[in-house]
Amino acid sequence: MNEHFVVRPADALAGTVDVVGAKNSVLKLMAAALLAVGRTTITNCPQILDVPLMADVLRSLGCEVAVDGDVVEIDVPAELNSEADYRSVSRLRASVCVLGPLVARCRRAVVPLPGGDAIGSRPLDMHQAGLRLLGARSEISHGCVVAEADGPGAALRGAQIWLDFPSVGATENILMASVFAEGTTVIDNAAREPEIVDLVRMLQEMGAKISGGGTSTLTVHGGADLVPTTHRVIGDRIVGATWAFASVMTGGDVTVRGVDPHHLDLVLDKLTQAGATYEAVSEGFRVRGNGRPRSVDWVTLPYPGFPTDLQPMAIALSAVSEGTSMITENVFEGRFRFVEEMVRLGADARTDGHHAVVRGVPRLSSAPVWASDIRAGAGLVLAGLLADGETEVWDVAHIDRGYPRFVENLRALGGNVERVNAPPAR
Ligand code: EPZ
Repeated sequence: MNEHFVVRPADALAGTVDVVGAKNSVLKLMAAALLAVGRTTITNCPQILDVPLMADVLRSLGCEVAVDGDVVEIDVPAELNSEADYRSVSRLRASVCVLGPLVARCRRAVVPLPGGDAIGSRPLDMHQAGLRLLGARSEISHGCVVAEADGPGAALRGAQIWLDFPSVGATENILMASVFAEGTTVIDNAAREPEIVDLVRMLQEMGAKISGGGTSTLTVHGGADLVPTTHRVIGDRIVGATWAFASVMTGGDVTVRGVDPHHLDLVLDKLTQAGATYEAVSEGFRVRGNGRPRSVDWVTLPYPGFPTDLQPMAIALSAVSEGTSMITENVFEGRFRFVEEMVRLGADARTDGHHAVVRGVPRLSSAPVWASDIRAGAGLVLAGLLADGETEVWDVAHIDRGYPRFVENLRALGGNVERVNAPPAR
């Protein structure tokens, strides 16, 4: 059996949707818990597939983890296993973020290489380069990234680290590895995403001496003793923005609660260029479409630029906009695979290297399509709302990995979508 969604044309979406904690924050916060012996509690957690998968990785390191609704409790022992389980890590790319905390706590870490995925090759060279500057030897061996503190007494030492690119994952791993290092670490050209700020805040609550969260220069005064904490995850700006795009694409009126609109300043500004209006409301924001959107150009960049995770939504909106849009993908080289599926739905779209050109059409036409990753899946469902006929979106497990209660939330906004369990059509 292969689950799929059946999406039928929708009128203007309307209503309020509550968004919970961010996938791209909670997974790192769970890894950060490794830095303190005892119980750390994380609240406002999204109920998505990735959270129990991350819990399995932490259990393979010797932790006890309880996932109960939107609360995750992690009991971290004094002795940690420094080798993460191959099977658990291979099921969840993001689990590579245990590398930094393990090197910090155990002076050694063996983490299976997550490998590439549908959106790109995703190397770890910047993670390793940063750990080496902190005084760890690091190599790829037997399919794993191995890192081991190499200094006298096998201690890590503070360092000045420049990242070639403001990588989210490298910033997080180096940050977590440096909290126990002797002396001061400065990470320059660091990632500035709100999820990084959320991680910095939790580490500060645990007792770490860090400054510069949200800027491109993070400074860590190492050597602090960290204690467990209770931390609330920030709202998921990518999920919140996905609902905003759905509102604009259908000429709707949707209020998103649980997300800080300032985490989406540029995104909301681009949507107004497409003809929408938005206003901040208590605990979130309200986005109103205005008939058929106007075409605009989109350029993905690290935060505070336009998020690459919303690129499929930008293409889906451009496919039904008035006019021609250029979409430039600067973060992941393989993220235009999505366009092939959009063409199946009748989109007039072509790619050339890291550019895509999309000529808007008044209406798409339904077809069976396949989700290649989380965001592509959501983009195909949004496009299906603007397609004549029944669109079948397959491989929806991808969507479940990043969007809690996706079908229920879309139906509550008036979307005509259903989860179906049937043998694959093809
Ligand atoms: C995080 O991935 C997110 N994942 C991604 O979201 C998001 O797209 C990405 O950041 C950018 O915002 C999680 O947080 C779990 P990067 P990450 O390191 O950390 C290259 C989603 O849909 N690079 O900032 O892997 C890399 O190949 C996912 O929720 C190196 O070359 O992203 C990419 O081209 C998809 N060497 C670019 O940098 C390195 O050592 C950005 O990657 C590290 C990265």
